[in-house]
Amino acid sequence: MKRETVIVLDFGGQYNQLVARRVRECKVYCEIYSYKTPIEKIKAMAPKGIILTGGPNSCYEPDSPTYSKELFELGIPILGLCYGAQLMQLILGGEVAKAPVREYGKTEVMVSADSPLFQNVSPRTVCWMSHFDYIAKTAPGFEITAHTADCPVAAAENRVKELYAIQFHPEVLHTQEGTKMISNFVYRVCRCAGDWSMDSFVEESIRAIRGKVGDGKVLCALSGGVDSSVAAVLLSKAVGNQLTCVFVDHGLLRKDEGDEVAQVFGPSGSYKLNFIRVNAQERFYAKLKGVEEPEKKRKIIGEEFIRVFEEEAKKIGAVDFLVQGTIYPDVVESGLGGESAVIKSHHNVGGLPDYVDFKEIIEPLRDLFKDEVRKAGLELGIPENLVYRQPFPGPGLGIRIIGEVNAEKIKIVQDADAIYREEIAKAGLDRSIGQYFAALTNMRSVGVMGDERTYDYAVALRAVNTVDFMTAEVAEIPWEVLQKVSSRIVNEVGHVNRVMYDITSKPPGTIEFE
Ligand code: XMP
Repeated sequence: MKRETVIVLDFGGQYNQLVARRVRECKVYCEIYSYKTPIEKIKAMAPKGIILTGGPNSCYEPDSPTYSKELFELGIPILGLCYGAQLMQLILGGEVAKAPVREYGKTEVMVSADSPLFQNVSPRTVCWMSHFDYIAKTAPGFEITAHTADCPVAAAENRVKELYAIQFHPEVLHTQEGTKMISNFVYRVCRCAGDWSMDSFVEESIRAIRGKVGDGKVLCALSGGVDSSVAAVLLSKAVGNQLTCVFVDHGLLRKDEGDEVAQVFGPSGSYKLNFIRVNAQERFYAKLKGVEEPEKKRKIIGEEFIRVFEEEAKKIGAVDFLVQGTIYPDVVESGLGGESAVIKSHHNVGGLPDYVDFKEIIEPLRDLFKDEVRKAGLELGIPENLVYRQPFPGPGLGIRIIGEVNAEKIKIVQDADAIYREEIAKAGLDRSIGQYFAALTNMRSVGVMGDERTYDYAVALRAVNTVDFMTAEVAEIPWEVLQKVSSRIVNEVGHVNRVMYDITSKPPGTIEFE
């Protein structure tokens, strides 16, 4: 049976993944495609609806992203957002021009007509605007359904043709009733049934994996992170002990994390998979000795990881399938899905081992967003502390220690980070902050403890909130919590005499501190 799908045509805006996530939150499956996707392909997919995203260009410039008029004649409901709305109007005979007043931020929108899109939405509703162009004149057949103080066309529609244009961004949470509008579009306009849910995903996936794998052998690199854990458990539910998981402990994990992973997935845990833990700490430390440059450290860790994994794989011999924990944002960001620039080449430890003898790759989470992976994890009975584990970079603490990495520094940053995490959890902030961790600066300075002069390291604490990990804001942690963490770290962790809180956003900083 074909899955009911709404597609997002990506014109390069920054919220594109959010659009798809919001649609999926309405229990409708959604995929992102570039605006360059040929119309034949779209027809073949027979989506229930199409959403055109925002984008950084002016649609009336000659080289700006566009689409053929035919798209609007397919009889498929279309919702254009911001750039997508303007483009729809321009293509269908309306006028788009530079706005006399640029709107940016939370803006009150007045809904002026009865529209399926605005059912149960307040007549005055706060929406997120971000545009310098505006729809100066709507295309023939369109009725204006909302405006703002500065923008005569905040929304317009041709209800007969099921074409909807809105100038603001319903996908952004600052648009207070945005989810309602998206839900109205998928249910009232596209007439979706809403059959996308994690329990059906898990069931369907298990069935599909069984069909594909048969009695074949499957190998999985397990890092203990959310994605690889969920992928492994999904596979183990599907094919039991045909699955072997190799967990390479590179000695750069958070405090006690290696043991925790072994406890959940090893023989004492509840899964029936074959679990191999490789204690490769010394190998990694030896390779990292004397290396200070962050990119070099990343490369060394990545390559060594592959070597260790290959050696283990060789011992197992030929396998039929290799499992990868690729998730949907990886697919989109690596340029295969939408139109967003390839910001980072994906740098998960593990990459793709060149010399492992396997026939095919299985990527069971390829269609899921992170929050969906978590839901699938809970559905599969994976412990909550593992499912809600924070994002942790593949190269681990190797890139949270400035300068040379060595066992002493790793111990310091592990201990400091464990205290930080404990206090954040005690303060009830662990689910509300996007990502937080301790890093070890390479700076030592003079301090005094008791009557003694000290010359010790400074630990940096970092905490950020982020929607897409491409940009991030510093989280405002209550002063008392920071003070408590600081005094505990200085008192309990050897060789640390200062604690600093990093208040840099991304950009100009990055989320990690390397
Ligand atoms: P940056 O530091 O680039 O981080 O702002 C953005 C997000 O990516 C994570 N990150 C990584 N994740 N392998 C990963 O799996 C890596 O090499 C890596 N480097 C950074 C980082 O933790 C943050 O969530």
